[in-house]
Amino acid sequence: MPKTTPLVRLKRYQRLIRISRDLASTLDLDVLLSRIVQAAADLSYAEAASILLFDQNKNELYFQAASNLDEPLLRGLIVPVDSSIAGWIVTHQEPIIINDVKQDNRHYENIAEATEVQTNSLLGVPLITKNKVIGVLEAINKQEGNFTEEDQEILMTLGAQAAVAIENTKLFQQSDLIADFVHEIRTPLSSIGTAAHLLLNPKINDEKRTQMAEVIKDETNRLADMATSFLDLARLESGRVQFQVNEIDPAALIMECDMLMRGKAQESGLYLMMDTETSLPHFNGDYDKIKQAVINLISNAIKYNKPGGMIRLKAEADQQEIRFSVSDTGIGIPPEYIDKLFTKFYRIPGTEECAEGTGLGLSVVKRITEGHGGRVSVSSEVGEETTFTIHIPR
Ligand SMILES: Nc1ncnc2c1ncn2[C@@H]1O[C@H](COP(=O)(O)OP(=O)(O)O)[C@@H](O)[C@H]1O
Ligand SMILES: [Mg+2]
Repeated sequence: MPKTTPLVRLKRYQRLIRISRDLASTLDLDVLLSRIVQAAADLSYAEAASILLFDQNKNELYFQAASNLDEPLLRGLIVPVDSSIAGWIVTHQEPIIINDVKQDNRHYENIAEATEVQTNSLLGVPLITKNKVIGVLEAINKQEGNFTEEDQEILMTLGAQAAVAIENTKLFQQSDLIADFVHEIRTPLSSIGTAAHLLLNPKINDEKRTQMAEVIKDETNRLADMATSFLDLARLESGRVQFQVNEIDPAALIMECDMLMRGKAQESGLYLMMDTETSLPHFNGDYDKIKQAVINLISNAIKYNKPGGMIRLKAEADQQEIRFSVSDTGIGIPPEYIDKLFTKFYRIPGTEECAEGTGLGLSVVKRITEGHGGRVSVSSEVGEETTFTIHIPR
């Protein structure tokens, strides 16, 4: 451990300044939090670092990011305020150094288990902005020796910068989401308004009347779909969704999706088939969320297909990952649109005429997959076929 000579100290502070400047450059909460924990571990020479965010209304602390985890499955895990070190920091609004955690009765056992690190020593600082505690930044296990006053000073400074950056990101995210939503509901609302207005005209004939009632029904359904998908997405984006992690059999998951969607495919005159080995390795994840992601893909494969077309579901695995793919023999996706598909509310021009939708389905798929540390890939040939694949690391 460098016994802090002035030069070493100077270097450390210079790094701190560089990192702090860096923090201001992202407005993506996940990216920001992962940068903060990485910086905290590096700057304090700790094995790992984690962030817990504090929800003032509910008086709850929840686990949000850790430097040593590749899979963000712990996200959202609630940590009791009254029986944890993090809770102590929030309540006292003070930093803390504990160089022998086991001797400290404030220790919260589940966290040690949750981060998969045996906690021996810990340095924690409150994240404070505008006199409000918004969370706790913890460095876990000094690599050599004990945490020092200087480590604490460095982490406090990083924490102060981090708190401001977190607040800004959250505000930005919220206003962004709300603006998008309001923008998107304008069109259906104005169609409903126009239809209602026409219905009130005593001179319109029955045919027109039925037509207007249909418009109102369709647009109301669309608004309802939008509200549901939007809420799903807002929850996923805020990072407050706690994944319910269980052991998943990929083949069973695909079979259930097949069962749930087979009827829908048949109604549309399409043939749904499964192409999956039955003895695939199991993995940990949120069964219902992944099922929802696959179903969103199947529902697209149905909507953007051609008459008499086919849909193939597949689960497979190799050393690195589990893959769920949905292929269709549909209209295909021109290459210039592929990058945009996962943007909220985005629909390829002309899609409006071919099928109903909200443009939120793929954003939900992406969030769920990334929440499992994975990614989504797309391959397509216009007029021929499209395959979406969810890759989840093992
Ligand atoms: N299998 C597919 N084949 C062709 N185009 C697709 C397919 N899946 C998605 N798309 C395109 O991507 C857009 C976004 O999809 P999504 O987010 O699920 O929204 P929605 O289905 O509500 O329109 C769709 O509007 C469509 O233009
Ligand atoms: Mg869709």
